Amino acid sequence: MKKDYQHIVILTGAGISAESGLATFRAANGLWNNHPVEDVATIEAFQRNPAYVHDFYNELKPLLNAAKPNPAHLAITKLQQEYPAKISIITQNVDTLHEKAGSQNIYHIHGQINQAVCLNCGHVLETFTDVDTETTCPHCQISGMMKPNIVFFGENLLYMEDVDKLLHQCDLFISVGTSGVVFPAASFVQIAKYYGAETYEFNLELTSNNLYFDHHIYGKAGETLPRFVSELLNAQASADNHNH
Ligand code: OAD
Repeated sequence: MKKDYQHIVILTGAGISAESGLATFRAANGLWNNHPVEDVATIEAFQRNPAYVHDFYNELKPLLNAAKPNPAHLAITKLQQEYPAKISIITQNVDTLHEKAGSQNIYHIHGQINQAVCLNCGHVLETFTDVDTETTCPHCQISGMMKPNIVFFGENLLYMEDVDKLLHQCDLFISVGTSGVVFPAASFVQIAKYYGAETYEFNLELTSNNLYFDHHIYGKAGETLPRFVSELLNAQASADNHNH
C-alpha cells in the first residue's frame, strides 16, 4: 500500500449492497430468482413484452428504495471526505445506496432504479413511482415510450467516456462485491492495471477475474472495507506528519 494515491477508482457490484439486505444477482435466491435473465434484463425482452419488464422493475423499486446503506458504503464516503485524492465510484448497482451514504462522483454505468428514459426523445425521468407502457414523457409528451433506465444486455453502458478517463488516470483501483463476469465492467481492472494502478479486490471469494488483482481481501465488505479505509487514512496521516 502506497501512502499518497492521487486518483482512486472504486468499482462496486451487488455484493456491496448484500449487507443492506439486497440479494445479489448470481447467488441462489438472487434478484433474478424465478425470472430468467432473458425475460427481464435483455433489450429483446423489453421489445417483446414491455409490460412484463416494467412490472418486474416496479416491484423491485420499493425494495431497493427501502434499503439503507451499510458500513461498506459509509466507509467509501469517509474515504472521499478525509483522503486527499480524487475518488470516483463506478457502480454496476441500480440501487442508490452510495447516494444515501452521502458519497459523491458516482457513475451508474448500469443505470438507476428510479429513472426511466424516453425512447422517443432521450429524456431521463426521475421517478419513485411506477412506470408502465402508458407513461407519458414529460418532455416530448409521447406515451408508451418509456423504458426503465436500466442497461439491459444488448445495450451500451452509460458514462463510458468518463469511465475510460478515470481508468487511465487512477493509481489505485478497488473492486468491491462484483463477480467480474459481466463485461465490460469486468475488464476495468485490467485496463486500470495496464495503466499502472495498484489493484485490490474485496469479495467473499476468489473471482474468475482474480489474475488482475494485486491484492485480495476476503470477507464481508461491511467489515473489510471500513478496516481498509482506516488503514489508508492512517498511512496517509503518518506520511503527512513525517513530511511536516
Ligand atoms: P453478482 O451477483 O454477479 O456478484 C456479486 C458478488 O459479490 C459475488 O462475487 C459475491 O461473492 C460477492 N459478495 C456477496 N456478498 C458480499 C459481501 N457481503 N461482501 C463482499 N462481497 C460479497 O453481481 P454483480 O457482479 O454486481 O446488471 O453483477 C454484475 C451485473 O450483472 C449487475 O450490475 C447486473 C447483472 O447483469 C444489470 O442489472 C444491468
